[in-house]
Amino acid sequence: MKARDVVVVDGVRTAFGRAGDKGFFWLTRADDMVVKVIRELLRRNPKLRPEMVEENIWGATTQEGDQGLTLGRTSVILAGLPESCAGFSVDRMCAGGLTAITAAASEIALGACDVAIAGGVEHMGHHPIGATMDPNPRFLTERLVSEDALVMGKTAENLHDMYPDITREMADEYALLSQKKAARANAEGKIQKMMVPMTVYTREGWIVADRDQQPRPDTSMEGLRDLKTPFRVHGKVTPGNASGLNDGAAGVLLMSADKAAEIGAVPRMRLKGYAYAGVKPEIMGYGPIPSTRKALARAGLTMDDIGAIELNEAFAVQCIVFMKEFGLKFPYDERLNPMGGAIAFGHPLACSGPRLVLHLMSTFSERPDVRYGITSLCVGLGQGATAIWENIDS
Ligand SMILES: CC(C)(COP(=O)(O)OP(=O)(O)OC[C@H]1O[C@@H](n2cnc3c(N)ncnc32)[C@H](O)[C@@H]1OP(=O)(O)O)[C@@H](O)C(=O)NCCC(=O)NCCS
Repeated sequence: MKARDVVVVDGVRTAFGRAGDKGFFWLTRADDMVVKVIRELLRRNPKLRPEMVEENIWGATTQEGDQGLTLGRTSVILAGLPESCAGFSVDRMCAGGLTAITAAASEIALGACDVAIAGGVEHMGHHPIGATMDPNPRFLTERLVSEDALVMGKTAENLHDMYPDITREMADEYALLSQKKAARANAEGKIQKMMVPMTVYTREGWIVADRDQQPRPDTSMEGLRDLKTPFRVHGKVTPGNASGLNDGAAGVLLMSADKAAEIGAVPRMRLKGYAYAGVKPEIMGYGPIPSTRKALARAGLTMDDIGAIELNEAFAVQCIVFMKEFGLKFPYDERLNPMGGAIAFGHPLACSGPRLVLHLMSTFSERPDVRYGITSLCVGLGQGATAIWENIDS
């Protein structure tokens, strides 16, 4: 059976809140954020009749409470999609949303369905990272992994150890640039275009959540230099050169290229290929290197063919390692995260993959000269995730 072409027609996200009681989503349910994204995708695509959506897949790292009960199915019912639409949830931690997208794309490619919605959500305020984890004691008693493997910030310190030439100053320089690029993209209105404003109840009453809470456009090298290193005494990873703890939801509308043509929907990007790969859990930030190498090789491409890269900035060090391994210019390579990344916007775990896809889609529409782009993330317990996309406007 020949695989069918799969295209992304649209995508949208909520604003990202800060996790915790100061965040604007503190009193909002995660599944309601998913519903908001689905409803907005339907509203913005009137050529798509709701009964055409056959599959609804959502990634979330914590699959309980307002992120439990199989979000992919609960959100079908809550969003008013027809009951004929199937749905399920996936968990690949930070790559949960990207996994939802590649799972949906694979179904479409194989002819199992024509139209799907896929995305990711994480309410890190309601589900603090690792709060309910219960790792098998064998991990530690049998030394299958070191204790570091379970604390992401420590894995980033380990990556610094592996690349001693990457200094804290370099990590801070990278972080500053992410904040500056994000501030510019925000000022140019590019980020707002990817968002659906959501009216939410907060302790201050009703507000419209329509701007990310995490970015710090006033960041300076001096400010970064003074920050503590919470993961290791005299370490290199700080709150300034790490991603934050956030709440957010993002999703995309996928269909077969034939279905898009049939209903007159405008395809924006085509999935060229994807790959996942495992690495040592203690250096999980290294994951995007083997997954990207594998995805490129399988697609018959090299990094020279790639004109835009959306790499999740879990930690600055992990991005600098990627830059070194693929020969990108440090600190600035115009191909990498041109609108900034998770250090500025925040990183609501499973939501970040679809957020990267939205950024890439925005770059594609501005840059018809760019034919191929990638979205890539590192994943807790040692994985990398990479998807390669083709710009249909090129
Ligand atoms: C690093 C981390 C522990 C910091 O958490 P936090 O202490 O709640 O973070 P805050 O935003 O309160 O920042 C801490 C301090 O740094 C300061 N700060 C943060 N970013 C800054 C910046 N860019 N410039 C100047 N100061 C900054 C804050 O103002 C705050 O200062 P204060 O203590 O004087 O108020 C947390 O963000 C984290 O765990 N990140 C990684 C998340 C993760 O592992 N994700 C999964 C990846 S695989």
